[in-house]
Amino acid sequence: MPRYSLMVNGKKQSVEADADTPLLYVLRDNLALNGPKFGCGLGQCGACTVHVDGVATRSCLLPVSTLAGKAVTTLEGLLINGQPGKLQQAFIDEQAAQCGYCINGMIMTSAALLKTKPSPSDDDIKSALAGNLCRCGTHQRICAAVKRAATA
Ligand code: FES
Ligand code: FES
Repeated sequence: MPRYSLMVNGKKQSVEADADTPLLYVLRDNLALNGPKFGCGLGQCGACTVHVDGVATRSCLLPVSTLAGKAVTTLEGLLINGQPGKLQQAFIDEQAAQCGYCINGMIMTSAALLKTKPSPSDDDIKSALAGNLCRCGTHQRICAAVKRAATA
């Protein structure tokens, strides 16, 4: 099996995998980074979202062989000294998670939004998160969490 060099959360990693193995599988199975979740495996729910060079990207469809020279950030990479970062803390404070399954994607997508738009409007937030599914229906608290992080 070929070996690939990846930069994940600022650390160089070397993994053995087939070329078309989705990044999501490598993160979870090879690197024990379980923040990103397997939801649909079809690019449709957003549960697997990570950042690739700062852009929110669905890792379930991204072959590991395409990531040379790119920086991958997962939910774990948003921690600061092992503690929740500002956006993660806002999700906790707003009790935005019910089952929690979608929350990785909600946070990673919102984090990418806040980088480009530090003070997003309600419409900006809704539009950024429109492709992230939450079957528990906690969208209002998720939006409130993003607002809290934006203005904190
Ligand atoms: S698991 Fe990747 S978009 Fe659903
Ligand atoms: S909190 Fe359960 S899917 Fe969103």
